[in-house]
Amino acid sequence: MTAPTWERWVVAIDGPGGVGKSTVARGVAQALGYESLDSGAFYRAATLLIKLHRIDPEDEAAVMVTLAGADLAYRDGTIFLEGVDVGRAIRTVAITTATSPLAALPGVRLLVVKRLRRWVAEREGRVVVEGRDMGTVVFPASELKIYLDADPEIRAARRAGETRATVREVAARLKNRDRQDSTRTLSPLAAADDAHRIDTTTLNADQVIARVLSFRAG
Ligand code: C5P
Repeated sequence: MTAPTWERWVVAIDGPGGVGKSTVARGVAQALGYESLDSGAFYRAATLLIKLHRIDPEDEAAVMVTLAGADLAYRDGTIFLEGVDVGRAIRTVAITTATSPLAALPGVRLLVVKRLRRWVAEREGRVVVEGRDMGTVVFPASELKIYLDADPEIRAARRAGETRATVREVAARLKNRDRQDSTRTLSPLAAADDAHRIDTTTLNADQVIARVLSFRAG
């Protein structure tokens, strides 16, 4: 199948949790005059909805019925569920922990991927997308693919700085999530063969953004 033309106006950034994808995606988008899209927010909001409806996440049929009718919208860098900005509500530890198992369900991925592609198609590209499978599965014809990585301790320290948890607690949760996200059957966390890899361990956000932009210019 040939990719739609708008897919050539997509910058795809993938990588594990706490690596700085959102900050980098926003910075790159700003430099290019693009919009940025946080695909993880969709999986998190889907998880929040399932929890609010007290659906058993293992009951895939019930999960799909609930999600199929959900009013899920992404605008101004945040996600809305039934018209309500849930950008903060989706960042709790409980939602973060529950998201990886839900995101492994084929039906959930199909539904979210459809919405992500529609969002980008409506804008005819000019979007920086970030997540786990942007360059490998969702936007395989992207103009530029980036895979960010960093030492696990550094990622945990960065995340811990954003929360009240200790580095040790955050490190244990990140490790668990990385394992689930990279070992699942469908669309596991992985670098595309044609992705540029950037190790952000010793770089600040501005340096990573500059490096991403240098790949585009070249
Ligand atoms: O990026 P973020 O940490 O917000 O993602 C939350 C979770 O959503 C990830 O741990 C992963 O399970 C899922 N996710 C995914 N595919 C994406 C983005 C996120 O499976 N493209």
